[in-house]
Amino acid sequence: MNAPAMQGLNLSAPAYVKNARLLAWVADMAALCKPDSIVWCDGSKEEYDRLCEQLVQAGTFKKLNPAKRPGSFLACSDPSDVARVEDRTYICSAAKEDAGPTNNWMEPAQMRATLQPLFDGCMRGRTMYVVPFSMGPLGSHIAHIGVELTDSAYVAVNQRLMTRMGKAVYDVLGVDGEFVPCMHTVGAPLAAGEKDQTSWPCNPTTKYIVHYPETREIWSYGSGYGGNALLGKKCLALRIASTMGRDQGWLAEHMLILGVTNPQGKKYHVAAAFPSACGKTNFSMLVPPEGFEGWKVTTIGDDIAWIKPHADGKMYAINPEAGYFGVAPGTNTLTNPNCMASLNKDVIFTNVALTDDGDVWWEGMEKDQGKMPDHLIDWQGKDWTPQIAKETGAKAAHPNARFTVAATNNPALDAQWDDANGVAIDAFIFGGRRSTTVPLVTEARTWMEGVYMAATMGSETTAAAFGAQGVVRRDPFAMLPFCGYNMSDYFQHWLDMEHKLEESGHQLPKIFCVNWFRKGDDGKFVWPGYGDNMRVLKWMIDRIEGQAMGQETMIGIAPQYSELNWTGLSFTPEQFKTVTSIDKAAWEEEFKSHDAHFELLSYHMPQELIDTKAALEQRLAAL
Ligand code: OXD
Ligand code: MN
Repeated sequence: MNAPAMQGLNLSAPAYVKNARLLAWVADMAALCKPDSIVWCDGSKEEYDRLCEQLVQAGTFKKLNPAKRPGSFLACSDPSDVARVEDRTYICSAAKEDAGPTNNWMEPAQMRATLQPLFDGCMRGRTMYVVPFSMGPLGSHIAHIGVELTDSAYVAVNQRLMTRMGKAVYDVLGVDGEFVPCMHTVGAPLAAGEKDQTSWPCNPTTKYIVHYPETREIWSYGSGYGGNALLGKKCLALRIASTMGRDQGWLAEHMLILGVTNPQGKKYHVAAAFPSACGKTNFSMLVPPEGFEGWKVTTIGDDIAWIKPHADGKMYAINPEAGYFGVAPGTNTLTNPNCMASLNKDVIFTNVALTDDGDVWWEGMEKDQGKMPDHLIDWQGKDWTPQIAKETGAKAAHPNARFTVAATNNPALDAQWDDANGVAIDAFIFGGRRSTTVPLVTEARTWMEGVYMAATMGSETTAAAFGAQGVVRRDPFAMLPFCGYNMSDYFQHWLDMEHKLEESGHQLPKIFCVNWFRKGDDGKFVWPGYGDNMRVLKWMIDRIEGQAMGQETMIGIAPQYSELNWTGLSFTPEQFKTVTSIDKAAWEEEFKSHDAHFELLSYHMPQELIDTKAALEQRLAAL
């Protein structure tokens, strides 16, 4: 340890912190980052309130009107720090091939040499918060522990909502328990006596989000926003956990988990993967429409699932998170009433607009309110009126504006959401945003075919997904930005799962592919989506129960028109045809684009997937 640098810094950990590796690591990191002080977070409400008040004093938080939005705050970020930075995100495995062509890579020693001078003194003038958290129910055999060291109080309070954070984690960790060390700094040290000139310190020019999968470490520099900074989420629960899953025989997936209970009380669980900005939160909180009286949909998770095979022959899933970090714009009581109800109190909003009466607003809320507000302060602190928006196109909320809220705020929270054993998965669903080509729903005939469809999944990009608008980006398993190792090896892991599970007598969940986003000739969405997705979900359950025949298509089993419950929705057989048709020419193009995708992933691409493609193309040729 660097003794002179530690002068005057009180390192002393609370007596309940007994983990030797943790204590040594915190001391080393304090010596490197040179914070002014260290706070060991205990996760209490008092601590949360104190840090929130401190953020209010610093101007990072604005307290919202307690009569409108009790216990809630608004933070507005630096305009250079508004989303995950995929081009600055690295998987630093020893061998480049192990990161694969879809990840940025740097040799670990070279990356360490790059980060060392950046982290040296990076917390000067700031406090280092020690944030212990459990991904998954405390003590669950599926859960894992992380400890984040951060110089951002905003991160510390967000982590309290997003994870099981605090003192109890140390009991699970004990003296020698394992944890994933997560280093985070906003990368904006202060000179002696210098005060922040900004309410959102970050490094506007230098950002690194770095993962070392072999040593299971995360180092994040320069950003204070979302997945770049709340390191339990994408960094630990997906990138690092996916490599742990590969090594240990389980799955860490970019999937929501929902429960669906029929009127007879039988409950099913599905895990569904969608790329960012495809309505995952909406689907996980779905309200069944007219015609589904007695059905209930409940949320276990809205973003990430950890799934492990169990001795009883089933695959069990937990949501490693304890809160939602969701996109606000577009959310209203028509698209997601349960989400809106979750946001009534105790929320941290980031980059939405402020109303004149101290509440929040974002694009989409006018549908609830019947009109646009007359005046707002936009996410960048400027005046906003409908007239200004018309003239300049200015958005009141940033398109990737977020809410952070504890899962316990969700009125549709599943009773088993915190069950240490998880829930048994009956089906996997994969879906992207495609205005053409991909039908409303198909069931894979085999596990292999399901893996093929997931491996070749694509989605048209939106602002929140960071990229040019409307371009199809191949996003295998919705894991493109989140897979911590070579994507082709990840496909192989999914394929191997089938053999391993069958050998041990497991029942494999069914695999379905969906597309809620087909458009008609008029350029409008044909399928109503949202609550009406229940009609498709119910068909899947009928398939699980052997109660729907379906019909064979080139890419799997699709529903017949008569097999969906249409009560309460006027949707003609012609409209159904528009969303379910398989266009031969479009699929020929689609397979060509799969070629390009497979070419990119050719290193270790499983031969079975290449053979599956050939078999599907033959089916297409025969149409
Ligand atoms: C998210 C994402 O924030 O997938 O969940 O981008
Ligand atoms: Mn996500």
